[in-house]
Amino acid sequence: MLSSCGDEEAKQGAETAESPQCPCTDATSADIFTVTIGATVPTGFEPTAAEEVKEKIGVDARISKDRGRIYFPVSTDKLFQVHHLKSVDNLFVVVEEYDHYQFKESKEEALSEFQQLASKLPWTNALEVWKLNGALKKKKGHRKGGSGAKVKPNSETSDATTASAEQQELPEAVSVAEGQITSDGSPDVESGTQEEATPKAKLIKFRVTCNRAGDKHSFSSNEAARDFGGAVQDFFQWKADMTKFDIEVLLNIHNEEVVIGIALTEESLHRRNISHFGPTTLRSTLCYGMLRLCNPQPSDVIVDPMCGTGAIPLEGAIEFNSAFYIAGDNNDMAVKRTVNNVCHIQKRRAEKGSVSALPIDTVQWDLCSLPIRTSSVDIIITDMPFGKRIGSRKKNWDLYPSCLREMARVCRPGSGKAVLLTQDKKCFAKAVSRMGGLWRKLFTVWVNVGGLHAGVYLLQRTGAVFGQTPEDVYESRGTVNTQVDEKQEKERS
Ligand SMILES: C[S@@+](CC[C@H](N)C(=O)[O-])C[C@H]1O[C@@H](n2cnc3c(N)ncnc32)[C@H](O)[C@@H]1O
Repeated sequence: MLSSCGDEEAKQGAETAESPQCPCTDATSADIFTVTIGATVPTGFEPTAAEEVKEKIGVDARISKDRGRIYFPVSTDKLFQVHHLKSVDNLFVVVEEYDHYQFKESKEEALSEFQQLASKLPWTNALEVWKLNGALKKKKGHRKGGSGAKVKPNSETSDATTASAEQQELPEAVSVAEGQITSDGSPDVESGTQEEATPKAKLIKFRVTCNRAGDKHSFSSNEAARDFGGAVQDFFQWKADMTKFDIEVLLNIHNEEVVIGIALTEESLHRRNISHFGPTTLRSTLCYGMLRLCNPQPSDVIVDPMCGTGAIPLEGAIEFNSAFYIAGDNNDMAVKRTVNNVCHIQKRRAEKGSVSALPIDTVQWDLCSLPIRTSSVDIIITDMPFGKRIGSRKKNWDLYPSCLREMARVCRPGSGKAVLLTQDKKCFAKAVSRMGGLWRKLFTVWVNVGGLHAGVYLLQRTGAVFGQTPEDVYESRGTVNTQVDEKQEKERS
């Protein structure tokens, strides 16, 4: 079964990635200043995100000690560009950062310092950026159980807490006072008729979210959020509100590193392509990172043979659209979901006036016997069953070698690549080692997928000719340069 959506003939390259335009044109150079932006990214893909920032914004990003975060400078006239990054999940503007914060030993003293900190911080620029950002950010979709921007804890010794009005037992009503900010550009502010009639300063609602990692703290994230949040409230006379907040203040603590920020995203930017979810849908930000690893070239044929909901090839068809993608799965539900996801994006693009179809087709097939010519595919990119929610560890012992062999058959010898995500590392390593030199491992990026430690493996199809069994395989040209492999592996780790 071959299914596609919309225009059958994909006009490759006809629609290049739109260069983002700044919606705010009235800023004078006197108004422009530079701030530090922080971004959470899929762990393991920090260097990829830094690369994208350099490419698209032209600045160097710094990778935080706290895995899963990068920081980079942005001038306010370029602020809109940060929302077009594809490798970042959540964004925030940094109010202040301390590399070596000396926490007091006793809990009381440490918390008392958090209380004092609120009034000492240089809030002005960050709050100005928060105001500008109101017109730039994507508003949160109405999803079941959805809430504001979440920042995940990244370590086993970490915890994350949002200080709410309830937790803090803060007074319900806070009077409008001096020092208040007008909420121009602030989204999600409840607007009742009374407020519309009096367009003056509006009561700002806020919450504090604390992410803490490290085992040398005398306080919990809950206590830090509560005490720091209380002091922020006193200082600004804002009202604490867990769910309907205008401002989310972030208190990120990683061992001795403390970063105070203000969130610039209402929901993670990975929520962009998928409308029909499956049991193991990958984040679009992670898909983007995997795609960047294989560096798609114009006219490349790229196959995701176990596409699930199509998250990887769909991200590819949107972001690297001069290649052509084939998405396949053996499960009819998965194939339907992929077709629906592709159609949904096609429709959205058509509404915006785009005439070209996405360069992607969807097929139902068994990966172990692909209806594809030998040596015709440039890149295989897929997220293999981990054997937890899909398949089983036992089945993987048969599935993985069959997959790798069939992938080797269809992939171009010498130049073909495979980017494969799996958590079943032992089974995967064994299967690769039994491929008789058809694949060469270039490097591995270690990632966190829903709390599971997984590997994204970049494999190069060697020049070896595909035979009946791996044992029949022989090298057609040259020898494999394993020194290069080891060097590349070291550089990435
Ligand atoms: C981890 S899921 C892929 C999830 C996908 N990346 C997404 O974002 O939705 C693995 C997929 O492999 C498919 N699969 C398992 N065995 C297969 C086979 N022999 N041929 C084709 N697809 C297979 C499953 O149906 C499942 O959809």
